Amino acid sequence: MKHSDIQAITSIHCRAFGPKEGAEIAQLAVRFLALPNTLSVSVTRGSVLAGNVLFTPFVFVEHPKVRCYLLAPNGVLPEFQGHGVGRELMEQGIAAVQATGAAAVFVLGVPGFYPRYGFTPTDKQTPFPQLLTTPEAWMVRELHPGAVQALGGATRAVTPFMVPELWDTSGRG
Ligand SMILES: CC(C)(COP(=O)(O)OP(=O)(O)OC[C@H]1O[C@@H](n2cnc3c(N)ncnc32)[C@H](O)[C@@H]1OP(=O)(O)O)[C@@H](O)C(=O)NCCC(=O)NCCS
Repeated sequence: MKHSDIQAITSIHCRAFGPKEGAEIAQLAVRFLALPNTLSVSVTRGSVLAGNVLFTPFVFVEHPKVRCYLLAPNGVLPEFQGHGVGRELMEQGIAAVQATGAAAVFVLGVPGFYPRYGFTPTDKQTPFPQLLTTPEAWMVRELHPGAVQALGGATRAVTPFMVPELWDTSGRG
């Protein structure tokens, strides 16, 4: 990926998530983009990258052959929000993950947004299950029916994501 694209994606997440968490999430995006198996989907408006979503591998420790992804971060530049960029990111992003043959996509996110795109709350574990105080925020989108039914037990995200604070929903509205 071109350096200018990495910069544009970093800036999207920094500004989308605002002054409180933007810088940290943008840094996470940079680390994800440096990993070989990260999927990155961007949506443009004119010549501008208006939104970006990243997908990183997510593994059930006892089922290492079942390939899943974690969706994060997902951001749209504030001036483009509310005009369908987020919808396009979801549609193109899920299609991109589906094309890899993966079983499912997980997300720890806004319970009002993701169900529009086929995500439903899941009782599978996050990597830090004791920190999930808002269970409806942990969702899955199966990419074929029953794909995650047999999965269970401990899970792992990519190393930069194995930070307990990122999985603690107690401070979320
Ligand atoms: C959430 C976000 C990615 C949505 O992108 P967007 O371009 O504004 O979304 P769209 O204009 O495509 O809206 C798609 C639909 O989702 C709804 N929606 C948008 N943001 C929403 C939110 N935070 N909660 C619930 N619904 C939301 C819209 O009303 C729209 O509904 P409709 O199709 O019925 O009209 C964007 O607002 C953003 O970057 N927010 C800040 C960062 C963030 O919170 N990311 C998600 C963290 S999990």
